[in-house]
Amino acid sequence: MMDTVLQAMDLKRYFQVQRGLFRPAAEVKALNGVSFSLQQGRTLAVVGESGCGKSTLARQLTLIDTPTSGTLIVDGQNVAQASASQRKAMRNKVQMVFQNPYGSLNPRSKISRQLSDPLQRNFALTAKECEERVRTMMTKVGLRPEHADRYPHMFSGGQRQRIAIARAMILNPKIVIADEPTSALDVSIQAQVLNLFMDLQQEFSTSYVFISHNLSVVEHVAHDVMVMYLGRVVEMSRKEDLYQRPLHPYTRVLLSATPSINPAERRIKIEVKGELPSPLHPPSGCAFHKRCPFATELCRQQEPQLRPIDGSQVACHHIETIPL
Ligand SMILES: Nc1ncnc2c1ncn2[C@@H]1O[C@H](COP(=O)(O)OP(=O)(O)OP(=O)(O)O)[C@@H](O)[C@H]1O
Ligand SMILES: [Mg+2]
Repeated sequence: MMDTVLQAMDLKRYFQVQRGLFRPAAEVKALNGVSFSLQQGRTLAVVGESGCGKSTLARQLTLIDTPTSGTLIVDGQNVAQASASQRKAMRNKVQMVFQNPYGSLNPRSKISRQLSDPLQRNFALTAKECEERVRTMMTKVGLRPEHADRYPHMFSGGQRQRIAIARAMILNPKIVIADEPTSALDVSIQAQVLNLFMDLQQEFSTSYVFISHNLSVVEHVAHDVMVMYLGRVVEMSRKEDLYQRPLHPYTRVLLSATPSINPAERRIKIEVKGELPSPLHPPSGCAFHKRCPFATELCRQQEPQLRPIDGSQVACHHIETIPL
């Protein structure tokens, strides 16, 4: 049996937002009850439109932020029950890679320094041993170790993302949370960086939560896919199942909006109505009902729960009867 390295149970994160001096604060349910588990060496992709809560989820998983409620278990340990020193150890087990490598690297610090700092803080290593590890990691991510004394601006966008990946990997984390790690890169560079993620996973058995709005990127890297809509999970499937037989109407809308995925394989094209609703005023019942061609009175009134369908998990009242 594979090891579960990360488990989220009913994670919620609500934000209070001010709407002006004389109006009561409103609540944004950015994350509204998300559950999943991630196995060692696997990649769970998280997809969904802008504002559906992907980055909010990432901030909970990397312990940058604290959920409003719910349980998070990192490598067998409940985060909420951890002591300060246990939390520090957990932080090292969960590393992250962001969309914009330039923003996450210190522009005034040499690459060698940025890679060796976390090593020095966490291990009793000599300067020589640190340098050796930095060189090894640079090589593994496809950078030339003789460039270790350069500053971030001296590298291309793709190389900078390799540096950010090296920094995430240098403590040999169990889990890497990657939030749109290739979205800012040229298309020609994207595939190389995705392949790097996959090579490193092969070598170190790292688990990834890979966040992307781009379904063709996800098809390349994911084992499992979680589709989010307004802070909730609407479908969770194995990658092959999701691309060959998307179930939730929203998943099918996302797939038909992805040009690089063969449209001949699509069965029935679903036209989506209207705009993404504001998370400040989510619709009643199923959050997708206003845009869904199959919505009924039940969908307006009752929120569907995730339930097992053909090996997937889907939150839709009518999945058995809508045309595929
Ligand atoms: N600190 C905050 N205060 C108030 N609202 C927030 C805060 N952070 C996020 N939100 C809101 O929560 C919702 C989810 O935001 P989030 O950044 O998680 O979405 P996302 O899926 O990452 O979007 P994108 O694809 O654009 O990156 C949005 O409506 C956003 O405005
Ligand atoms: Mg985001």
